[in-house]
Amino acid sequence: MSQLRDLGPEFVWGAATSAYQIEGAAAEDGRTPSIWDTFSRVPGAIDNADHGDVACDHYHRMPGDVALMRELGLDAYRFSVSWSRVLPEGTGRINEAGLGFYDRLVDELLAGGITPYATVYHWDLPQALQDRGGWPERDTAHRLAEFAGVLGERLGDRVADWFTINEPLCSAWIGHLEGRMAPGERDLERAVRASHHLLLGHGLSMEALRAASPGPVRVGAVLNPSPVEAASDRPEDVAAARRVDGHVNRWWMDPLFGRGYPADMVEAYGVEPPVQEGDLELIGAPADHIGINYYFRQIIEDDPQGPAPRGRMVTDPSWPVTGMDWEIHPAGLEDVLLRITDEYGARKVFVAENGSAFPDLVRADGSIDDRERTEFLEQHLAAAARAVAKGVPLAGYFAWSLMDNFEWAYGYDKRFGLVHVDYDTQVRTVKASGRRYADLIAHHRGLVRG
Ligand code: FCB
Repeated sequence: MSQLRDLGPEFVWGAATSAYQIEGAAAEDGRTPSIWDTFSRVPGAIDNADHGDVACDHYHRMPGDVALMRELGLDAYRFSVSWSRVLPEGTGRINEAGLGFYDRLVDELLAGGITPYATVYHWDLPQALQDRGGWPERDTAHRLAEFAGVLGERLGDRVADWFTINEPLCSAWIGHLEGRMAPGERDLERAVRASHHLLLGHGLSMEALRAASPGPVRVGAVLNPSPVEAASDRPEDVAAARRVDGHVNRWWMDPLFGRGYPADMVEAYGVEPPVQEGDLELIGAPADHIGINYYFRQIIEDDPQGPAPRGRMVTDPSWPVTGMDWEIHPAGLEDVLLRITDEYGARKVFVAENGSAFPDLVRADGSIDDRERTEFLEQHLAAAARAVAKGVPLAGYFAWSLMDNFEWAYGYDKRFGLVHVDYDTQVRTVKASGRRYADLIAHHRGLVRG
């Protein structure tokens, strides 16, 4: 892939995971439940009644998993920190045993020449804070900043690269409006409140990380934009696509880039976000980078009776889809990267997640020849390289995911890993896509580093 030459010599090659999806050890060393421990106990909430009690048992297998990262030749690893492991009450008392795990992880990564990229919040709010009202409560944003401050103080001597919040869209809209993710609510007003407090939490955490870290840090949020297109040129569909673009993209990008909330969406929701004086300045304060998670494009038709934003995704059987039924549309990655750069002026961007689930077939000899995932990876890397050639300041790419894991409401059935996990034995096997990724990384190094 000669296009990879466009990714400069400093380009960071990584893979990503998140705490609840891989760690397991749910009740160990003083960890308390998060909203995902609670939600996974709700009958019918998760496919096959799966939960993260054991997951990939990464908590106990961390050194071996870091060795796998080295085998793949990764420059960097993006992980998240379990809030209720570090602050079991969500605030106040620090649980040294829990924090110790991340100390060891960071040291192990650095010893292996892998740069840690830490995400403060990847959806696993301590249940103790949910019991106090969760994200619809303003105080939760301050508690996130407290948590970020603890992490900055204790890990900031070795971790320089941070993401504050991951995909607030999913926490706010899917967790509080659609009810398909923790905490499983369906309430537009509470969802809008949650969205504002998540963004406020980002702004406050960015300040806290910068203030508390002994070393220099680089901080930004992670969003999951989708290109949105109307299903037809009927004015109703065009208007619906505009609303979905507001819901999915502009509601998040506008405030993070200092523009406040889009007025058309405040009108569409009929709910004002609970903005207090100074909030928009905090949320829009210049970040050091932004993470973009990209999975699919959305083709939208009007859904007048549906919930906000009254647009629904259309599926067409002639489009190729992944095992999630998500349309495979690599050019969309180029689109979202160009948009965040040209329309919003982002100065440093990471693809913080990109990947695909397919039903992997394990052969008799144990190997996994996941051609579709390999192709997906190649096509999206080519799209990223095209974006760079058009001027996007793309600093790195993190594949989702390092290994198969607990895919939220879909449980363990949906496998996104470059590395296969046998959940009965916890044996890890690098898939063909993982080998291909390792080859591409090595190839790129050869091209640009000589
Ligand atoms: C993203 C999440 C990540 C993973 C992928 C498939 O929305 O950030 O945890 O579930 O989707």
